[in-house]
Amino acid sequence: MNTEIIRITNTSADEEALERAGRIIKDGGLVVFPTETVYGLGGDATISTVAQKIYAAKGRPSDNPLIVHIEHPEDAEQYAFTDERYYKLAKAFMPGPLTIIMPKKDIIPKEVTGGLDTVAVRCPSHPVASRLISHSKTAIAAPSANLSGKPSPTRASHVIDDLMGQVDMIIDGGSCEIGLESTIVKLDEGAVILLRPGAITYDALCCVCDNVKISHAVSEQLAANEQPLSPGMKYKHYAPSAPFVLLEGNKEKLLEFLLSEQKSKTCCILAYTEDIPFLMKSEYVIDIGNEQDYITQARNLFAALRKADETPAEIIYAHVPNKSGMGLALYNRMIRAAAHTIKTLI
Ligand code: TXA
Ligand code: MG
Repeated sequence: MNTEIIRITNTSADEEALERAGRIIKDGGLVVFPTETVYGLGGDATISTVAQKIYAAKGRPSDNPLIVHIEHPEDAEQYAFTDERYYKLAKAFMPGPLTIIMPKKDIIPKEVTGGLDTVAVRCPSHPVASRLISHSKTAIAAPSANLSGKPSPTRASHVIDDLMGQVDMIIDGGSCEIGLESTIVKLDEGAVILLRPGAITYDALCCVCDNVKISHAVSEQLAANEQPLSPGMKYKHYAPSAPFVLLEGNKEKLLEFLLSEQKSKTCCILAYTEDIPFLMKSEYVIDIGNEQDYITQARNLFAALRKADETPAEIIYAHVPNKSGMGLALYNRMIRAAAHTIKTLI
């Protein structure tokens, strides 16, 4: 397939290009577009064969459902059975990086929801995403625009590496502001369950809704035969090809360990900015931001993992992030990329 790449810098000036992209979606094609979180691989959410095309382009198992993107929060009425909690959350966080799972209406084919009776709805704040949905005159089903098993793309170059020739169009909108995927909650009877942490934090959710619970799968490994609340939880995501080990414990010991590792093998380190002067100078030391600056770390993490994967490193190291606030989102992505491998240094 011939993939057209368009670059959008100013949405009003590029309305014509977005109109064309919208037409591709309307005609059953696939368009990759930027959002405030990560790039999405979009198609018409009401057509079952489009969902199959999305799964095929990503190489994704078709039991792992897609998020349905809408232009306005109230558009959810067309696709899902909302309740008062939806509107409370929507008022506080939409448009923005929050996805809400609710019982689905028939207009959403089962192929989109991986056979489930629920649908995940998200109203992105990125102007390009919003305008694209508007022009396509439908809701857009879009998983992250990476090949299955790769980190989510936060730059158009990541998408080009993964999906060139698999989609009709790629809209290059520069780097994604947040860099980690949206927070996902499920509106269950009684509780609001946090399935995937993101920029909308647990504390922020608690300010708006009662009884918010964090699914244990956010930070723990699933038990052998456990049926996850979200199919995505059972797949090993974002994994670089070299072993990825997270380090925790005494800072001095940790830096000592990393130095000795640097001397004895080719290793890649995702390092905090302030630690870099204490490590050996190497192009395989990747700065991911200051230790306390979760926002910058979130923005850099997936690009850093892709970069690490391109090095000839035998092993990749990073610090275990703190689980508070947005740190929980970083922890959730890193612990899975590392297949829960943590080394403690005391
Ligand atoms: O920020 C984001 O959410 C990005 C951008 C493109 O919007 N999208 C994204 O989609 O991260 P994806 O497909 O990579 O991740 C969606 C996750 C999957 O783990 C899937 O299992 C879960 O949401 N999910 C979707 N629908 C669900 C449902 N009905 N019930 C439970 N989990 C669901
Ligand atoms: Mg994904």
